[in-house]
Amino acid sequence: MFPPPRSRSRFYGRSTNYVNVAKDALLRRIESGDDVMEVERELAAQLGTRHAVLMPQARVGIYLVLRSLTRTKKKVILSPYTIHDVINMVICAGATPVFADIDRKTCNIDTREVEQLIDSDTAAVMVTHLHGLSCDIEGVAKVCRDRKVPLLEDTSQSFSASVGGRRLGTFGKAGIYSFGMAKNVNCLYGGAVVTDDDALATELRKELAQFPLTESELLLKRAAFCLLGDVLTWPPVFKASTYWAFRYGYLHGVEALNKRVRGEDAPQIKTEIPPHYLRRITPMQARLLVPQLGEADRLSAIRIGYAKIYDEGLAGIPEIITPPLRTDGSHIYLNYAIQVEDRHALVRFLMQHNRDITVQHMGNNADYECYAPWKRDCPNARLTGKQVVLLPTYPVYGEVEVRRNVELIQHYFKVHHQHATATRTVDDAQRAVRN
Ligand SMILES: Cc1ncc(COP(=O)(O)O)c(C=O)c1O
Repeated sequence: MFPPPRSRSRFYGRSTNYVNVAKDALLRRIESGDDVMEVERELAAQLGTRHAVLMPQARVGIYLVLRSLTRTKKKVILSPYTIHDVINMVICAGATPVFADIDRKTCNIDTREVEQLIDSDTAAVMVTHLHGLSCDIEGVAKVCRDRKVPLLEDTSQSFSASVGGRRLGTFGKAGIYSFGMAKNVNCLYGGAVVTDDDALATELRKELAQFPLTESELLLKRAAFCLLGDVLTWPPVFKASTYWAFRYGYLHGVEALNKRVRGEDAPQIKTEIPPHYLRRITPMQARLLVPQLGEADRLSAIRIGYAKIYDEGLAGIPEIITPPLRTDGSHIYLNYAIQVEDRHALVRFLMQHNRDITVQHMGNNADYECYAPWKRDCPNARLTGKQVVLLPTYPVYGEVEVRRNVELIQHYFKVHHQHATATRTVDDAQRAVRN
């Protein structure tokens, strides 16, 4: 039995973030400074685009860009394997979601599906680079170029990843990033849209100018929530108390505890953008981004190092679909997402053996009742939606923890395999006796 683990995730907030937030709050400077514009310039330079426009959240960026692109044509082709609010933003923008199935290995949109689904009413193709992994971006970009359809990249989970030296988010009309709490860059919610299109950037800035700044009180509440999360997942506290509460909750089905760590609630359609989404990011949040932007590549390299260990230990197990191993920056492994048939049995086993692992909360939106008007059969997304387990990769997680996960998963499948073989042998023997 292993000692108690490190937590499955951390908010990835630096301790200096909290000090800076407290200072800005005390000195009443949350709203002052030119930092939003400065960070926009820095981000555009880092990513190699003409414009970067900071957003209160990535989903607002998706909504505003789609509103601009779907004035005449209405269909938006996208992966159904994403968070519910991405689908909601398409609907709120007045567009029609068209679900394209995904590739099992990458969990990302299948280029052949995109090609088949484009028609004369297609306003845009929006790809997602999930778990930090680039979709077949060069393939999709070519299809979009050939068919003259704008390409958007939801790069919320893969800031700083690149393909062929080009950053994800810069292959099409616009790229959207998230700086939400569980992302590799975090500023108490936030996001950005990057584009080379001057008219689109001007339109986005005009829209944003009408919104109020995010309220200081709300930001302080978020900071307090993050701080509490960081304290509860700080290894000494986590190992002594938090882990045992969450472990008990998972193993005994205590909903009051489990809902605290669930990534998303049940799907619910939104047809109008909630007014509280329409805010501007504050200068204080922009200041939080400054030291993080330059560090993203170094931290991604640590995640890639963990992915190599996972890959070495797990890629040969036939019952597991592992993600592709990429060490060229085209996968930054926000998580190492594996797929197994009975994921709850695996997670139960891991929790029983003192690991803190969770299943991916996303499901196949193409199957949910609330999106029934846009239902489309996506068998790969359906299976993936039931099978993904997220193995941690955050930079301070540590190699020892990664190796323990690998060892236990190997053990689980060895026992599982022996059990399956024994069952088959008994079945064969019974069949032989009957015949
Ligand atoms: C794939 C994906 N797209 C979009 C979003 C939305 O990001 P935000 O919370 O910044 O709106 C998320 C957030 O989790 C995400 O994972």
